[in-house]
Amino acid sequence: MCRACYNLALKIADLHTISLFDYQRAILQAKGNTIVLGGRQIGKTTVTALKALSHAVVHPRSTILIVSPSLRQSLHLFSYIARFVSTEPLDLLIESLTRTELRLVNDSRILSLPSSPNTIRGYTANLVIVDEANFIDEELITTVLFPTLSTTGGYLWLISTPCSKEHIFYRIYESGKDWSRFRIPSTMNPLISRNFLESQRSILGVYYRQEYEAEYIDEVYGIFNTANLLADEPISKQVNLVLVDVGGYSDSMGVLYCHMDGERLYVLDEYEGRGAYLEQMNSMIPRLHGSTTIVIDSTGVGKGVEEYLAGRGYGVRGIVWSRERERDAIVRLMHTIQSNNILISPSCTRLIRQLKESTIKNGRLTTISGEDDLLYALMLAYADSKRKAQVIRL
Ligand SMILES: Nc1ncnc2c1ncn2[C@@H]1O[C@H](COP(=O)(O)OP(=O)(O)OP(=O)(O)O)[C@@H](O)[C@H]1O
Ligand SMILES: [Mg+2]
Repeated sequence: MCRACYNLALKIADLHTISLFDYQRAILQAKGNTIVLGGRQIGKTTVTALKALSHAVVHPRSTILIVSPSLRQSLHLFSYIARFVSTEPLDLLIESLTRTELRLVNDSRILSLPSSPNTIRGYTANLVIVDEANFIDEELITTVLFPTLSTTGGYLWLISTPCSKEHIFYRIYESGKDWSRFRIPSTMNPLISRNFLESQRSILGVYYRQEYEAEYIDEVYGIFNTANLLADEPISKQVNLVLVDVGGYSDSMGVLYCHMDGERLYVLDEYEGRGAYLEQMNSMIPRLHGSTTIVIDSTGVGKGVEEYLAGRGYGVRGIVWSRERERDAIVRLMHTIQSNNILISPSCTRLIRQLKESTIKNGRLTTISGEDDLLYALMLAYADSKRKAQVIRL
């Protein structure tokens, strides 16, 4: 980063009474292509916003793209930039400001985009920053983002918590020549207390290493604590939530009949089957009544099933699955288990088995046998982005 950009980034932080940590300063001082492997809450998004804004102000007519795994993430990131630029005297430089785009009077612009190839293709950029880069499709980085920089001599910033080793992010982090490389575990953030980290370690188990120690975990087993999940006898409650993992063409479909009472989830019964989706849905429907919500993975073939059910007047919520969503759902499920807010009926033997056999492979949740449809159905209860992930505010 050029000196003028770095000084401006410090000034902006100062205006917001943020005293940057040493590692944040080091990252901002890095030159050229830069990669940061970091734990949760180390101030990744803050640094990204400062980097983008200072570059846009100091270098007129520059285009800066910020790419995030989801629209929610890109809006979140852009809210940092909007906050930073809206204070005096920087606000005088604003030409226009929306929820995803900032234009400055010096003809620079910053765009915050979700990671869909169609929205990004065709740009020419001077700086591209990818937040949670390990969670987006690697082809997007290689075939869409790299080319946006080819004619400008611009450079790339990749920042992420760890996810999969089978990814360009990991390969660059391990051996990227000419890259400035950083690894920042959450313990380096002086504002995160030891007590908080210890409590996370006891709740998240091995997953803590990925989330807070910025380590790749792979082929680890038994990631959920199943000790207190099983009810002694069948739970007699009315179904008000049905979780449906439709699966691919060759996988089976997993359905969980549940009763949700505030934060407390009772899993009453399970269904696992192969064959025509709609026939299976029809056999499920007699068990539903007016106030039941159906949550369905609407990725791929699930979209059709979602539309079919919605067309028949059922309350359906489709969830588009992604690696980032999966990560957040795993963490929420672990917190729910820890606070004893989930109880599973003894008849759900396959769900219990899948929970016991759960493992992380290539950054994805699965089971030793590969049968994970009920596990994914359960995760749908925790995939709603409106529910807040357990994060601390520094
Ligand atoms: N140097 C700092 N001093 C004080 N607060 C900071 C500092 N850097 C970041 N913060 C604050 O810490 C919180 C987390 O920062 P940020 O969202 O940038 O972290 P992150 O690493 O992106 O988190 P996540 O892992 O959840 O994506 C925010 O409230 C932010 O304002
Ligand atoms: Mg962040």
